[in-house]
Amino acid sequence: MAQEIDKNDFEQNEVVVDRVSKAYGTGQFAKPVVTDCSFSLQRGKLTVMIGPSGCGKSTLIRLLAGFEAPDSGTVTMNHKPVSGPSKERLVLFQETALFPWLNTYDNIMFGPRARGEDTAETKATVEKLLETIGLTAFRKKYPSQLSGGMQRRVELARAMINDPQVMILDEPFRGLDAMTKELMWEYYARLFESSQRTHFFVTTDIDEAIFLADRLLIMTHIPTKTTAIVDVDLPRPRKLTDLFESERANEIKMKALTLLHQEAMKSFSGGSKAAADFVDAYAKRKTENGKQA
Ligand SMILES: Nc1ncnc2c1ncn2[C@@H]1O[C@H](COP(=O)(O)OP(=O)(O)OP(=O)(O)O)[C@@H](O)[C@H]1O
Ligand SMILES: [Mg+2]
Repeated sequence: MAQEIDKNDFEQNEVVVDRVSKAYGTGQFAKPVVTDCSFSLQRGKLTVMIGPSGCGKSTLIRLLAGFEAPDSGTVTMNHKPVSGPSKERLVLFQETALFPWLNTYDNIMFGPRARGEDTAETKATVEKLLETIGLTAFRKKYPSQLSGGMQRRVELARAMINDPQVMILDEPFRGLDAMTKELMWEYYARLFESSQRTHFFVTTDIDEAIFLADRLLIMTHIPTKTTAIVDVDLPRPRKLTDLFESERANEIKMKALTLLHQEAMKSFSGGSKAAADFVDAYAKRKTENGKQA
């Protein structure tokens, strides 16, 4: 079961989601998407939310970001209710796009320039970001001259230069090929580790979740809520080679997969097609990981 959140733990919790519910539509057409959901984002930590496709993850992101309001329950940031969007909480969506008419450098500089912060300090930060994402040599290239993975890296840098207190990422690497995705995990981990900020990352990919997370929130099927929290106590900075060779990482992965499987089985007995697909995928992954199963 999900651990109780200590809502008053101001030092530790930057954002608290407390018994939040949300439905779309009204009356007999109302469709509950999130129900009685509670969790917190710990300050300076990377919290990863993993749950089945369509369970309500993006809905929770919209509630956290303040784009929508819950029907009941509260979302607070540093004890203040979230009542609308704020530059303190920046969301990077899967479909975020770069400005095609600006090169890499100017795309990253867009936010600071809009605020009149084209200073020597900001320029030095851009250089550091370009180095961290491995694109110093691509500073003058336009988005159309970059690969999909490179574009995603520029998008990450463009978001992180604004240094939001809370960075929210909604499946930012979905759709990238497996190798590019793994590289992205390393680049993103470096960015997070150097930022000291609170991050919230949503995914459906268990390896991505374990490689990145300090804490893993496991979600139920729709209408979703947190069903378990797994602490990912792997050392940082993280390297992909460590992840695949680490016994601890495999232990955590099997624990998380077991919890996800239990969740899928519950919905499966209720006849959900998504759950049936998930059970199949889980069985396949267990076979692939035969040694660890
Ligand atoms: N604005 C809306 N109006 C009506 N229904 C909505 C709205 N937004 C989401 N939904 C429904 O809520 C459910 C959850 O959607 P949501 O996008 O939050 O899930 P998700 O977990 O992010 O899915 P995915 O894994 O596909 O990204 C879906 O059934 C969707 O159809
Ligand atoms: Mg989504």
